[in-house]
Amino acid sequence: MSQKVSSLSEMSLLDPETITLPWEYYARMRAEEPVHFDEQAHAWLVTKFEDIQQAARMTDVLSNGLGLETAHREPWQDEIDEMMVREGFGPHKTLDNFNVDPPLHSRRRGLVDQAFSAHRVASMEDNISDIVGTLMDKFIDRGSADMVEEYSIPIAIYVISDLLGVPRERIDDVKRWSDASVGPLGRGITKEQGFAYARDTMDMHRFLNEQIQDRRKTKRDDMISDLVHARIDDPENPALSFAELLSCSVGLLAAGNETTRNGISWGTLILAQNPNLVTKLQNAEDQNRALQRFVEETLRLHAPVPQLPRVALEDCEIGGAKIPKGSFVYLCWASGNRDADKFQDADKFNPDRKNVGQHITFGVGVHRCIGAMLARMEMKCAFREIVNRMDDLKLTVPDDGVDIWGTFVFRGPRSLPVTFSNRAG
Ligand code: HEM
Repeated sequence: MSQKVSSLSEMSLLDPETITLPWEYYARMRAEEPVHFDEQAHAWLVTKFEDIQQAARMTDVLSNGLGLETAHREPWQDEIDEMMVREGFGPHKTLDNFNVDPPLHSRRRGLVDQAFSAHRVASMEDNISDIVGTLMDKFIDRGSADMVEEYSIPIAIYVISDLLGVPRERIDDVKRWSDASVGPLGRGITKEQGFAYARDTMDMHRFLNEQIQDRRKTKRDDMISDLVHARIDDPENPALSFAELLSCSVGLLAAGNETTRNGISWGTLILAQNPNLVTKLQNAEDQNRALQRFVEETLRLHAPVPQLPRVALEDCEIGGAKIPKGSFVYLCWASGNRDADKFQDADKFNPDRKNVGQHITFGVGVHRCIGAMLARMEMKCAFREIVNRMDDLKLTVPDDGVDIWGTFVFRGPRSLPVTFSNRAG
């Protein structure tokens, strides 16, 4: 593509090649027009680190209120909403609990932050180590595996299910429900798929309804209980309503899966392509610290959520560009992470860089990812298991043959076929 294209205006994030490999487009925007109107996508793209930070903090002008569903609404979505309302459910929305602006957002976030306490996340480390260990036991002696299907996907699903308190026997359902939640976001799906996703979503709502009712009666040691029992100092409105509880549980279940799965897959790909990094991590004096730096640099180089939308509530200015009221504005986290004004040799993987960890992969400001600590822990445990139990990790496809899928809001390897040997012999 790069050879054929001469002008920035001929490029677009709607181009399937560009969305899977966006680096040249991002680099050209940063160099030529850092806040650029993508005509085909009909949206403004903010691509420089500093501008993204500034825009993310303009919550009074750039609203998060319309959500992803609106930014990518298919023409037949109204029919799906009608069906869901007919069946006694609300319209199909995924992250609407969080896709609101302050002050409503601050209230909800305050309540959900209680459930997402550092204590609850820290208490998950042993459980996550068990999960990654059990998954690896299944294929370590085979000498080959698809690390996406057999490792990244199940890790993310088991962890979020355990955290919320969803019983293990419903794991296959959780996968289906999570796909149904993120499937319609930012990608072209057919009407039939849209309806199938909506039916799965209703299934999920029924199940989560029951779980919430159950936790109202009996407090358990899980996050749905924490959400049900969270309180803030507001006599009028001290707790999450039933609708908020439902949408919050749905949001957590969905937001934690596709994202973390891709984070684990990207790091695994980097390990498979760089045997020297594996050796370094295997022999590191302080392995925990070395792994943390590896996680941060993976997150910077390959942001699993490349960009997210806002809507301009009034005319505004970002990075010198005049944005008209009503415009969609994408904050391109993945591009900001490769801004040479912030990161030296920004396209290079370097876990020893001084400002490692200063990426914007988890967003900026009030909407900053609530699951960042959990995602980092999952990635660290997953990579620790790989380097401590595998030798000779290699891709079985050429480096440029890795199948990558991308949308406006998710990007990651579709599969990672590898071979390896068992370090334990
Ligand atoms: C590597 C993994 C992850 C990445 C890259 C990621 C990325 C992001 C980003 C960029 C945002 C900012 C949204 C915005 O500004 O519009 C966000 C918000 C959010 N994330 Fe994550 N996320 C990850 C993992 C998780 C996990 C594990 C969970 C939950 C279990 C989660 C739950 C959420 C929620 C609920 C929000 C909305 C927060 C709000 O609006 O206040 N994420 N995430």
